[in-house]
Amino acid sequence: MAKYRIALMPGDGIGNDVMDAAKIVLDKIALDAEYIPADIGWEFWRTEGEALPERTLATLESCDCALFAAITSKPKEEAEAELIPELKGTGLVYRSPIVRLRQRFDLYTNLRPCKAFKGNPLNYRDDIDMVVFRENTQGLYAGVEFHPLPAEVRAALEAHSPNMAAFSGVSSDDIAVSTRIFTREGCQRIVRVAFEYAKKFGYPTVTLVEKANVIRETSGLMVREARKIAAEYPGIELWETNVDAMVMWMVKNPQDYGVLVSSNMFGDIISDLAAQLVGGLGFAASGNIGDRLAIFEPTHGSAPKYAGLYKVNPAAMLLATKLMLDWLGETETAQVLQQAIADVIAEGKARTYDMGGDSGTLDVARAVAERL
Ligand code: NAI
Ligand code: MG
Repeated sequence: MAKYRIALMPGDGIGNDVMDAAKIVLDKIALDAEYIPADIGWEFWRTEGEALPERTLATLESCDCALFAAITSKPKEEAEAELIPELKGTGLVYRSPIVRLRQRFDLYTNLRPCKAFKGNPLNYRDDIDMVVFRENTQGLYAGVEFHPLPAEVRAALEAHSPNMAAFSGVSSDDIAVSTRIFTREGCQRIVRVAFEYAKKFGYPTVTLVEKANVIRETSGLMVREARKIAAEYPGIELWETNVDAMVMWMVKNPQDYGVLVSSNMFGDIISDLAAQLVGGLGFAASGNIGDRLAIFEPTHGSAPKYAGLYKVNPAAMLLATKLMLDWLGETETAQVLQQAIADVIAEGKARTYDMGGDSGTLDVARAVAERL
């Protein structure tokens, strides 16, 4: 029996292109692993009414971790319209499979390293090395939402918050509410993994990105818990920032920041900004990490217009593979892979269109594999 069981979920569009790139590299690495293909994505929504079939969940239950590429998601009405005729009007509601995976397997940490590789013409600066920790299961993306606003919910809100008076003249049909739920434990564990990472890799600061002066209860809870945890790490300073100011600082002085930690939506936003500073979506990898299972992915989507053209940059997918190796404890192999990616970027011969080159996705993957 192989040492690891790893699920491979290519998904939709360029997800397939970049997964093929990852396979070239994985073949070369020859990890003692069994790779199990698993279904996820738009085609399964259209034909089965389920973008994340039960069989895929069962596969994941039996795996150590997964590599996932990208899927297509569409708004509610469009999703319903694309169902096969037999499934139309049956009350199926599309929900993001990624969000569901995060909740189902309690993948509470979203890790997004954003490091500038030397020689990348897309770098905003060459000295950027930020690592964003985004809370991955709670907050605004937890899916506790209402429209129209049910009468009982409205009554409860009115009974408990005088600020509801601002909406007193508005019909419940015309009110949409998305809740932002944080738990104390949710705040504690994401801040703790950020501090642990800073300690392990020698970062002097952890920057908490919230908005506690306005969102007093949720962001406030995060700040209060972060202060308690920071006290356990005397060598590491906690910097508290507001998200709006932070995006400004990230453009002005990104080199000043190391580890950042934030809640779900703010973390999503700042990690896309951080990614753009080091070359954009083609370079942004992430890990969705829980206590038992972890799923690694490039942060880009399925980019339908490039699907199947083998044009897009596989770097993000290969860096996701590197994060997976780290998580499995294959740290040496992970380091070798990162160095091979860095060397190919620095050499500048195999480059996809986003870097001004004309190499294909698989050319870059082969160039990386040759250096392993
Ligand atoms: P996207 O990330 O798919 O593509 C946006 C643009 O970024 C592309 O047109 C391309 O110019 C560039 N790009 C993306 N990946 C690249 C790569 N590896 N190399 C070079 N350039 C790259 O985002 P978009 O267009 O907003 O969404 C397309 C679909 O993907 C939607 O259905 C969306 O819901 C879904 N999506 C899925 C995600 C996931 O699977 N985790 C994340 C984001 C979007
Ligand atoms: Mg995103």
